[in-house]
Amino acid sequence: MKVYIPDDSSACAAGADRVASAFEKIKEVEIVRTSSRGAFFLEPLVEVDTPQGRAGYSNVPPSQVPVLLKKTPEPISQMSFFTKQTRFTFANAGVTEPMSIEQHGFKALNKARGMDPQKILDEMKKANLRGRGGAAFPAGIKWQTTKDTASDLKYVVANADEGDPGTYSDRMILEGDPYRLIEGMAICAHAVGAKKGFVYVRSEYPAGITKLRNAIAHATEAGILEEDFFELKVFVGAGAYICGEETALLESLEGKRGMVRPKPPFPAIQGLWQKPTVINNVVTFATVPDVILRGGDWHASLGTEKSKGTIPLQLAGQVKNAGLVEVPFGVTLEEVIWGYGGGMPKGAKFKAVQVGGPLGSIFPKSLLKTKICFDEFIKVGGILGHGGIVVYDDDTNMVNLSRHFMEFTAEESCGKCTPCRIGSTRAKEILEVILAGQGTKEDLALLDELGETMKLGSLCALGGLAPMPVQTAIQYFGNEFQRK
Ligand SMILES: Cc1cc2nc3c(=O)[nH]c(=O)nc-3n(C[C@H](O)[C@H](O)[C@H](O)COP(=O)(O)O)c2cc1C
Ligand code: SF4
Repeated sequence: MKVYIPDDSSACAAGADRVASAFEKIKEVEIVRTSSRGAFFLEPLVEVDTPQGRAGYSNVPPSQVPVLLKKTPEPISQMSFFTKQTRFTFANAGVTEPMSIEQHGFKALNKARGMDPQKILDEMKKANLRGRGGAAFPAGIKWQTTKDTASDLKYVVANADEGDPGTYSDRMILEGDPYRLIEGMAICAHAVGAKKGFVYVRSEYPAGITKLRNAIAHATEAGILEEDFFELKVFVGAGAYICGEETALLESLEGKRGMVRPKPPFPAIQGLWQKPTVINNVVTFATVPDVILRGGDWHASLGTEKSKGTIPLQLAGQVKNAGLVEVPFGVTLEEVIWGYGGGMPKGAKFKAVQVGGPLGSIFPKSLLKTKICFDEFIKVGGILGHGGIVVYDDDTNMVNLSRHFMEFTAEESCGKCTPCRIGSTRAKEILEVILAGQGTKEDLALLDELGETMKLGSLCALGGLAPMPVQTAIQYFGNEFQRK
């Protein structure tokens, strides 16, 4: 009898490895390590085959293993966390064995290699796949720019720096479906005429790095990646948030300190070592195989008018069901937090939600009906970023939270421009004064002015967006910033 146990880092943190060790003592059982489906509140989630498909036992402690299989598992198809999701990019998560080339199949790459490169670009443009790393730029247009730029060398780079606290979709692809990323990058290479590529991975993802390296080695051995077609390497970052910004990433990849470059020139024209370079987020590349297999029109049929396809949202903070939720763009924040996330844990009361990581705005209850798509978020003064959703309860001190985010910016600023380098430190100091109960109206006015200066005068979005959580916290929870 096969028993499927996840080997994803979050599942292992919840005890999946210990559960697997306990199963090793049961002779009749064949252990298959899959990755996680992303329902981290259910981990360790142990699955078995049934006539109705996979069924699972959730939150299994190792002590339960000897008697577990005598109990009736719950069909995955009936677990409410999964039933309402629309899984494409994460369809294999927790289902397949991450290292199995046979299970992955590389069907989309095979199809793409038989296609004229321009036809691939046309499908990408039809799909209107907008980048999932934060800036939401249409991938097809970026790829076309690189294709149309004449050069002896071109590169394809995947951004796996995933620095936003509370996000983990890239990690889940690296650990759970690395061939999907490789396939998306190889399709891009074929389309734009690149022969070399890099995946820039944050050092905090050791399991993802190992799996990706193994996957690249297997794909090379199998002749899928080859020198004449596309050579792919992994580059491990050194742990700076700013290295997720594409130009700082390129500097880092070139062996220099991760400092932001002014744009233009854009990387699509002059990127790595001044050569035309496509840089996309891991999820963007991982979505490409489905666009090729199902067609650009299929992708464009999902989502809203200007945000096409699905988005993997990553729920964290004060929600009952923390985990990855892949849904078409257009569902509301309320539907996600309550419908999928199960609402607040017992005894906790909703206060605010932050979408888009440390640069994302803080939204109060009155904005919960906002649709999750790029344009609606811009309208209400927010960003979707990389799809991280952190829910805060009533105990959250908004002044302290604001101070925390300014401290984050002060620490992570690359230091190139004054408004960000100095402004973030001064703003943090003002927030410390307010936190100590000694803030004045003038302090709040100064904080606002500093914020506006950072927004207008910063070279990149780290300094440009850092004031957003603070300004929206003051806008919606201003009474907490008043002098006591
Ligand atoms: C401060 C900062 C940090 C960023 N961090 C990341 C990151 O960790 N991962 C990512 O994909 N994009 C990140 N971005 C966005 C990248 O600059 C770039 O837009 C993205 O990699 C392009 O890929 P996409 O079009 O597929 O989203 C960051 C941007 C800024 C300003
Ligand atoms: S805004 Fe901050 S992080 Fe961005 S270039 Fe300027 S100093 Fe560097």
